[in-house]
Amino acid sequence: MSDARKRLFIKTYGCQMNVYDSERMKDVLHPLGYEPAEQPDGADLVILNTCHIREKAAEKVYSELGRLRPLKEAKADEGGMTIAVAGCVAQAEGAEIMKRAPVVDLVVGPQTYHKLPELIAKTHRARGEALDTEFEVEDKFDQLGNDRQVDGYTAFVTVQEGCDKFCTFCVVPYTRGAEWSRPVDQIVAEVRALAAKGVREVTLLGQNVNAFHGEAPAGSEADGPWGLGQLVRHLALIGGIERIRFTTSHPRDMDDDLINAFADTPKLMPYFHLPVQAGSDKILKAMNRQHTAEEYLAIIERLRAARPDIAISGDMIVGFPGETDKDFEATMQLVRDVNYASCFSFKYSKRPGTPGAAMFNQVAEELKTERLLALQALLNEQQVAFNESQIGRTLPVLFERVGRLDGQLHGRSPYLQAVHVEAPADMIGKIGNVRIEGASRNALSGILVTSEQSAA
Ligand code: SAH
Ligand code: SF4
Ligand code: F3S
Repeated sequence: MSDARKRLFIKTYGCQMNVYDSERMKDVLHPLGYEPAEQPDGADLVILNTCHIREKAAEKVYSELGRLRPLKEAKADEGGMTIAVAGCVAQAEGAEIMKRAPVVDLVVGPQTYHKLPELIAKTHRARGEALDTEFEVEDKFDQLGNDRQVDGYTAFVTVQEGCDKFCTFCVVPYTRGAEWSRPVDQIVAEVRALAAKGVREVTLLGQNVNAFHGEAPAGSEADGPWGLGQLVRHLALIGGIERIRFTTSHPRDMDDDLINAFADTPKLMPYFHLPVQAGSDKILKAMNRQHTAEEYLAIIERLRAARPDIAISGDMIVGFPGETDKDFEATMQLVRDVNYASCFSFKYSKRPGTPGAAMFNQVAEELKTERLLALQALLNEQQVAFNESQIGRTLPVLFERVGRLDGQLHGRSPYLQAVHVEAPADMIGKIGNVRIEGASRNALSGILVTSEQSAA
């Protein structure tokens, strides 16, 4: 290996926004000679891009740092290993990490990682440590530019950051800061550049993506900022982009224009993630979700009217403080009413500094476990039933890579289901129509019926 080439290992925890941020960190470090490595052993720079959402997620960081220590010692005589902690744990506990884990050289928050080159230089010069957890989101995107290293046919694009909702269980408003949207022109430039590199599907990301209100494009007639529906329709005009998705939305920010986009924009995939968290109005209120169960169900109804084949996914929390058997039954009933294609579910986890953590009526751990198991059994049934309902349908599948078996390709349905199909390798990166013949909990299988590119 030549001296100029350095090895970079990034481990990513948490949500898709962290996945995007990790990719952008690679982009920022590429010009400095850093090449991605598969393992931390012998790496010149190791970045842990962390998540603070639940206690378990945050604890993982410290055990990972423990595992890195001997690797860092082993590399001491061979140029050394710089260890950085990024992401939401960095934002929430920056100074404490430095104290608790001397193995860490630098701490960088989600809004300042564009400054990694400077920060690394600083630690090397001073043989000391560096910490930067300011909020400078505008500056960040200007600095990052559009020259992304693309790997594959699907890509995440962050369009909105931060959260002003302050759900009483959640750390995100504290780790990611206030809601902010990127200007439309900047997003278009990034998506065009991705399309030019072969990307066919983009997933627009934001902690509250449907709160998007980005500066209108130059020359546009609209006088105010654009909403997400307008952005989606505009991105659908970009040649090469065949599929658009977005996540994560909040029920409070749903508007008719966005719901109509599901009806009038075929490139917008008929699969929508809309977390509700609980089915009891009392718990929703205590969570500060700012909507009722009925209002949530009304949104789902409007979405299904706009796009009858739309499938819904969600997030649920069980065992929020004060949750009784009756409240939990309301969650089960809401799940039955919605009939989810897929849904994440979690036991409530007390997070330092959030109002929920200070509530006196915490639910016992065993009861949370019991409720989670009951909820997951129901969600599991719904997911299997949804997958099985695809048998006999012909679905457009975007082929992403070779599959595990010989001659097989791995692709995704409009509903993000994994699909395994026998198909020629030149279908990779293309959309083909697949007649679905088999379904399990996590995947579909079928037969390629047309290799024609079809607008989904
Ligand atoms: N912005 C999104 C997602 C936030 S985090 C939204 O508004 O829905 C992703 C999911 O983690 C949340 O939807 C919630 O279900 C879960 N979550 C957040 N804080 C949690 C906590 N303290 N305990 C358990 N689950 C939590
Ligand atoms: Fe967290 Fe609520 Fe904001 Fe989602 S909307 S990020 S759950 S505070
Ligand atoms: Fe975790 Fe931060 Fe995402 S807390 S879920 S990485 S916004």
